Amino acid sequence: MLDVLKQVELELPELLKDESAWVGKDVNYHPPRVERLWRQWRDIYRIYLHRIHPCKPEEALFHPHPWPSAMLLLPGSAPYKMGVGHGGGDDNPPIDKVLTMQPGSRYEMVDLNDWHFVAPIDEPAITLMVTGEPWSREAPKSTKSLEPLTEQARAEIFTLFRQQFCPSISNVDR
Ligand SMILES: [Fe+2]
Repeated sequence: MLDVLKQVELELPELLKDESAWVGKDVNYHPPRVERLWRQWRDIYRIYLHRIHPCKPEEALFHPHPWPSAMLLLPGSAPYKMGVGHGGGDDNPPIDKVLTMQPGSRYEMVDLNDWHFVAPIDEPAITLMVTGEPWSREAPKSTKSLEPLTEQARAEIFTLFRQQFCPSISNVDR
């Protein structure tokens, strides 16, 4: 998936031009709170722009992903702690290790039994994620429908990603 992520990075300046194509959700049913903008891309992929709020590592949701995925922690982001583990089924496997992911890090989760948690340190972490075709795999989700993002949060997240991926375009010009 890292090759797909690279392609997303190349196309993102164009994809960010149409704000209406992006769906905003406030994913706040469990720490960390994730402010999300996402859109479909090339039939089978989804692209997610995330602002992930700080939390303690022991509070963070440990979860598998229901699809293969690749992530970039934006160079201008705060770092985050990431715990990783591996296990089938729905029960939390042991946490094998906890890493500190630095801004600019890229990684992928391409085994359906990979688990992780992320816990941004002190400030929100800003990440780009791309996901592929779903596996038949349960993963945590909210039991309530998620609230949309506020217009202000949408604007702030678009600005963060434009600063990273479209440095020559000011917000005034678009
Ligand atoms: Fe995740």
